[in-house]
Amino acid sequence: VTAGARGVAPVPAGELERRLAAMREGYARLVAAVGRAFLGHEEVVELLLAAILADGHVLLEGPPGLGKTTLVKSLARALDMRFGRIQFTPDLMPADVVGTRLLEEQDGQRRFTFERGPVFCNVLLADEINRATPRTQSALLEAMQEHQVTVFGQRHALEEPFFVIATQNPIEMEGTYPLPEAQLDRFLLKVELRAPGVAELERILVATTGGAEAEVVPVLDREELVAIKAVVREVPASSEIVGLVARLVHLTHPEAEGAPERVRRLVRYGASPRGGQAVLLAAKARALVRGRLHVAEEDVAAVARPALRHRLVLGYEAEASGLPPDGLVDEALQAARRRNA
Ligand SMILES: Nc1ncnc2c1ncn2[C@@H]1O[C@H](COP(=O)(O)OP(=O)(O)OP(=O)(O)O)[C@@H](O)[C@H]1O
Ligand SMILES: [Mg+2]
Repeated sequence: VTAGARGVAPVPAGELERRLAAMREGYARLVAAVGRAFLGHEEVVELLLAAILADGHVLLEGPPGLGKTTLVKSLARALDMRFGRIQFTPDLMPADVVGTRLLEEQDGQRRFTFERGPVFCNVLLADEINRATPRTQSALLEAMQEHQVTVFGQRHALEEPFFVIATQNPIEMEGTYPLPEAQLDRFLLKVELRAPGVAELERILVATTGGAEAEVVPVLDREELVAIKAVVREVPASSEIVGLVARLVHLTHPEAEGAPERVRRLVRYGASPRGGQAVLLAAKARALVRGRLHVAEEDVAAVARPALRHRLVLGYEAEASGLPPDGLVDEALQAARRRNA
């Protein structure tokens, strides 16, 4: 057992098994609680929970009305965390996100106080993040990265845990400010929400057009969440798995030896080491919630797309044809696996 990064204390071996059992049970409770209000999309829920456990933020892409608000609200409620929401618009200012300094007068004395912005919460839904100007976007992205905000030279720590789910509408791009690559890299995962099928639609319609709507109640407290998060980094990954992830990231680079032909032709820049961290951490979280104390190849395969799809910088040809990067990630993974054999 290795000591985790970020000052997480090493966990004794027997303790790990005990925590694993408690964790699986807690995770099952979470999935069930969220599933009461947000129906279907099990894979999306699993990825979101994996990101929370891996201490990362999520970019959630989906057209309007697919239940994004319902999902994030239920998640916050189930985790007993404070939910916040910001609707990003072109006139939104950084102060509308992080907060601002106010001049107060009390007993003839003037002093500055800090009025906290909506970013001071535990689970923040940043709706349509690409509608705000780059300045406002970067105010949020800084808060995400540092878990603190700086206003007039004063630092203010955010609440912990702090988890952002930023949404983007893939069909309405007009009048938007697409997030720059450097900002996209800060999202652990990019998750896509697709239109539900007929069976799923039926369930949604029945559940949301009748009488009382399902209520989500807290099922996991903060200590339990912190305990689970501490275990994620303790999940061992074999040297084969680490090698696979390293090759996967490397083979998304067009100049890499052995990179797939389409990667060479269509990708301008491949994924960063941060992309590799995202794959491995999300894979660890997934292994854990599936009740395994080691990362398997299937975990890597399951998180490769969401962890890397937003980190490939495509060339003009691919950009113009609107080619989704998922196929390129798949090909890089196949090539990485072949070299494992
Ligand atoms: N998977 C789902 N499970 C439960 N309810 C759903 C689901 N998908 C959509 N709905 C219902 O559809 C309606 C719209 O959902 P919601 O407001 O959460 O969507 P949204 O993605 O946040 O939309 P917008 O992009 O407009 O903000 C709600 O009444 C919600 O209950
Ligand atoms: Mg919404």
